[in-house]
Amino acid sequence: MKISLRPIAPTDAALLAALHKQGFHEAWDERAFATLMATPGMFGAIAGTDQPQGFILCRKAADEAEVLTLFVPEAFRRHGIATALIDRVAAEAALDKVAALYLEVADDNDAARALYAKCGFTEVGRRPRYYQAKVDALMLRRDLAAT
Ligand SMILES: CC(C)(COP(=O)(O)OP(=O)(O)OC[C@H]1O[C@@H](n2cnc3c(N)ncnc32)[C@H](O)[C@@H]1OP(=O)(O)O)[C@@H](O)C(=O)NCCC(=O)NCCS
Repeated sequence: MKISLRPIAPTDAALLAALHKQGFHEAWDERAFATLMATPGMFGAIAGTDQPQGFILCRKAADEAEVLTLFVPEAFRRHGIATALIDRVAAEAALDKVAALYLEVADDNDAARALYAKCGFTEVGRRPRYYQAKVDALMLRRDLAAT
């Protein structure tokens, strides 16, 4: 499957909100995305041309960057889209002298954990019972030196 990627723009706030609510119970609305994207250091990518096939949103601070959210609609999963989105932001961050990409994932999110392991992230921390006071949050890191 050919994957088309483009950078996220501030005008994408409504589109991102529509996608985000398909994937997360505590969805971020258009205003939240617009506010986020107006803050310094934001960057990301959207997959798909006519139809959005997923997105990733990140924030750079000094020589580190963090993945804030990543989503691929069910109809497009297991085609390498999330991998392509991660590789795109990793390459962009590395060019921008970012040394490492961090993210947080729920311990029980098996799909995302498998994806991140395959994409070279390793566990660097754990917040016990972080989500709904039940599920641990894992802090993951990908070294960008070799990217
Ligand atoms: C997690 C998510 C982003 C994966 O997107 P995707 O485009 O399907 O991922 P990819 O096709 O790039 O998958 C790459 C690898 O990750 C692993 N993986 C992805 N989904 C998986 C699943 N459901 N079960 C097991 N492994 C999975 C596999 O190793 C896969 O490689 P393979 O298909 O060759 O076996 C998507 O399922 C999603 O949006 N989930 C809901 C939102 C979410 O959890 N976001 C992350 C929050 S931290």
